[in-house]
Amino acid sequence: MSDVQSVRVQTPGGHYPIHIGSGCLQTLADHIPADATSLALVTNVTVDALYGERVRSLLAATGKPLLTIALPDGEAHKDWASLNQVFDALLAQGLDRKMVLVALGGGVVGDLGGFAAACYQRGVRFVQAPTTLLAQVDSSVGGKTAINHPRGKNMIGAFYQPQAVVIDPDVLQTLPAREISAGLAEVIKYGMIADAAFFDWCEAHAAGLRALDATLVAQAIRRSCEIKAAVVSQDEREAGVRAHLNFGHTFGHAIEAGLGYGQWLHGEAVGCGMVLAAELSARVCGLDPAAVARIRALVQAIGCPVQAPDLGVQRWLELMRVDKKTRGRHIHYVLLPRLGAAQVQAVDDDTVAPLLAQLAGQGGGAPGGENP
Ligand code: NAD
Ligand code: GLY
Repeated sequence: MSDVQSVRVQTPGGHYPIHIGSGCLQTLADHIPADATSLALVTNVTVDALYGERVRSLLAATGKPLLTIALPDGEAHKDWASLNQVFDALLAQGLDRKMVLVALGGGVVGDLGGFAAACYQRGVRFVQAPTTLLAQVDSSVGGKTAINHPRGKNMIGAFYQPQAVVIDPDVLQTLPAREISAGLAEVIKYGMIADAAFFDWCEAHAAGLRALDATLVAQAIRRSCEIKAAVVSQDEREAGVRAHLNFGHTFGHAIEAGLGYGQWLHGEAVGCGMVLAAELSARVCGLDPAAVARIRALVQAIGCPVQAPDLGVQRWLELMRVDKKTRGRHIHYVLLPRLGAAQVQAVDDDTVAPLLAQLAGQGGGAPGGENP
C-alpha cells in the first residue's frame, strides 16, 4: 500500500476523514465502528462482480454478520424500487439501528446507499467506498444523498454525512475510458471555480490523467477532495458557496434531461455545460475570452464533448428552469468572473437565448470519442 493521505470534512452534520491512497481499500474494516452490530454492503451487480468477493473478505475481519445487497446497475435504478430493495433486505434480516451500511460503487450506489442509511430506522451509520473517479472526487464527499423522481433528478433526498470515505484509486483500472473522462470533468471544475493554479496543473497533465497515471490521479483526487471538503465544511446545506460546485450543472442537467438520461454521462454533460457557462461568463461578468478558450480546450483534452446538442432554444430554457437554483422565473447560473473564482448570478433569458442559438444549434456533440 502506498502512503495514505487524509483530508477532513467538518460539518454540523458530522466530522469525518477521507482516506486516499493506492491499496487503501485494504483498510476498509478499520473504518467500521467497533460497536457495529452488523454490516450491509450495498453495491450494484457490476461492482459486486468486480470487487464484491474481495470486499466481503476484508469486512469479514470485523467478525460481524454481513449482508450484501447488489442492486441493478444504472442511473435508471436510482429510484424507489432500488431503495425499497435495500429496506426489504435490511428488515428481512432484522438489522438493528447499530448496523453500519457500506456503499461500494459509483455515485448512483453512494447517493442511494447514503439515502437508505439516512432513512433506515431514522438513520444508521454508513461508510463510502467510491469506485468511480466521479464518486471519488465528488459524490462520496459532502453528504448529499438522493434518489431520482420521474419528474426530476435527485429530487428526493437528504443531507446525511458518512462516517468515513475510503478512496482507493487502484479500482479505477477497471473503469471504462468514458467514465474516466466524465470524472475528470468534475476534477477540472474545482480548478475553474476555486484554484487557478490547479487548473494550470490539470492543463499540463490532462493526457497523464486520462491515461490514469497513478501519481497524477492520486494528486488530482486529493486536491479535489481538499477543495470539496473546504466548501462543504463552510456551507453544508448549500446556503451559499456550495452552489459554486454546480458550475456547468444548470446547462449539464438540461443536456441530460433533454437527450434522455444515459445518452450522455453526467460528467460529460457537466463538461460541455462548463463550456457554455464559461461563454455566458464572458458575456455577463467579464471572463477573459482567453480563459474561455482554455476551458474549452481542457474539456476537450480530457475527452468530454464541447459541442452542445441542439435541443431548441425554448426547450433549453424550459429544462434549465427546473434547476434547484431557480427562484421564481429567474434562472440562476454559476459563473466565473475569472479562472479560480465563481459567483451565482441571475441572467435574463434574453441574454442566454442568443448564446444557445449560436452555440447549441450546430447538430450537437457526440460523447465517447475524440471531439472535433
Ligand atoms: P455510476 O454510479 O452509474 O457509475 C458509472 C458506471 O461505472 C456504472 O455502470 C457502474 O456500475 C460502473 N462502475 C463503478 N465502479 C466501477 C469500477 N471500479 N470498474 C468498472 N465499472 C465500475 O455513475 P457515477 O458517474 O459514478 O455517478 C453518477 C451519479 O452521481 C449521478 O446519479 C449523480 O447525480 C450523482 N452525483 C452525486 C453527487 C453528490 O454530491 N452526491 C455529485 C455528483 C454526482
Ligand atoms: N456535487 C455538488 C455538491 O456536492 O454540492
